[in-house]
Amino acid sequence: MRFYELDREGRLAVLKDHASLTDEDVEILREGSGIDFKMADSMIENAVSFISYPLGIATHFLINGKEYLVPMAIEEPSVVAAASKGAKVARLRGGFTAHADPSIMIGQVQVKGIKDLGRAVEDVMKSKDELLSIANSKSSLARRNAGARDLRCRVIDTDSRGKMLIVELLVDVKDAMGANVINTMCESIAPRIESITNGRVLLRILSNYATHRLVRATARFAREEVGDDAVEGILDAYAFAEADVYRCVTHNKGVMNGIIAVALATAQDTRAIEAGAHAYACRDGRYSSLTHWSRDSNGDLVGSIELPLAVGTVGGLTSTHPIARLSLKILKVESARELACVMASVGLAQNFSALYALVREGIQAGHMRLHARKVAMLAGAEGNMLDEVAERLAREGNITVEHARQIMQEITHDISDGKKVR
Ligand code: MEV
Repeated sequence: MRFYELDREGRLAVLKDHASLTDEDVEILREGSGIDFKMADSMIENAVSFISYPLGIATHFLINGKEYLVPMAIEEPSVVAAASKGAKVARLRGGFTAHADPSIMIGQVQVKGIKDLGRAVEDVMKSKDELLSIANSKSSLARRNAGARDLRCRVIDTDSRGKMLIVELLVDVKDAMGANVINTMCESIAPRIESITNGRVLLRILSNYATHRLVRATARFAREEVGDDAVEGILDAYAFAEADVYRCVTHNKGVMNGIIAVALATAQDTRAIEAGAHAYACRDGRYSSLTHWSRDSNGDLVGSIELPLAVGTVGGLTSTHPIARLSLKILKVESARELACVMASVGLAQNFSALYALVREGIQAGHMRLHARKVAMLAGAEGNMLDEVAERLAREGNITVEHARQIMQEITHDISDGKKVR
């Protein structure tokens, strides 16, 4: 049986086997256990309750030769199916090839009121080693062969408040998202920067524009599977997105459907990911597609994606939220860079499937088929009966459990009358 045809216990059994989950892990998934109120109350202000999302599993992902089952937390129907469909087509040509840069994050220290900016830049750069060692004394990253690696200065000319010095720290945060350590490091070097420059430090904060932490994924989508018309249609759809910001935002939203669903399942900072991704889409001065589509000499469709992804596999909620911890266990990723590779591949798969559906029958028909299937299952339909009931529900446009039961009765009646089920 295929994963989506299994019932919940069947799906949990597959996960258990795939990721060597313990009985306790499975129980956590079964219960949908989250954080308790005490923890919620310690995390945010004025806490009163929780809100939960469905967690689904995208299948068929083959990335750099490794098989993945991908947990996705999302409220929107069809997204998990679309990711799985994209991955299924991609694996006909070997799946996804992905690479993530080392986890270098940028921290910024803003300095005002400097009389001689040129001199201040020189003096700060002369003290680079000292500043890096102050920053590194604030974290254990250096012991793990990571930490503050470099420092640079930029003089920016603001329209309204004149020139300022921005001192930037480049920090390898390894498997963390890195916000806390970067902020701590920026705060730690600020007093010394003030004494070196005779200026006044204002902001000391990471940049969520993680342009040194890019991830790239690429895949081929076989011509014979996709069909020539759809390949050409997808290229037209891509051209539309590249030429028109109204379309491009929706195109990239589809990409982010996949990326953010994995981010939520693994308790990442989704706002940081979104903000960085959309800024990156504007890196050439105009908003453009996060993915790129072309056709190779065999006629296959070739897709690629590139974006900054600041994600962590340690620290924050990733290791304390029971479901996030299990999502990482199911993913079997060994590093934040590997997680970024999975997320970029899911984004690309998602974009492929959205465009494929859009250039063929449109997006609604697929939604309706999936919805009809779920309603038929809720009504108790199984096996051949399930396909028949779902198909009639969608065709007749009356997708309710009541109608599904009525169709089931008719089919059962036909069978007992000796008529053949289609
Ligand atoms: C819906 O959540 C996402 C799509 O609109 C993406 C797209 O139009 O490319 C289907």
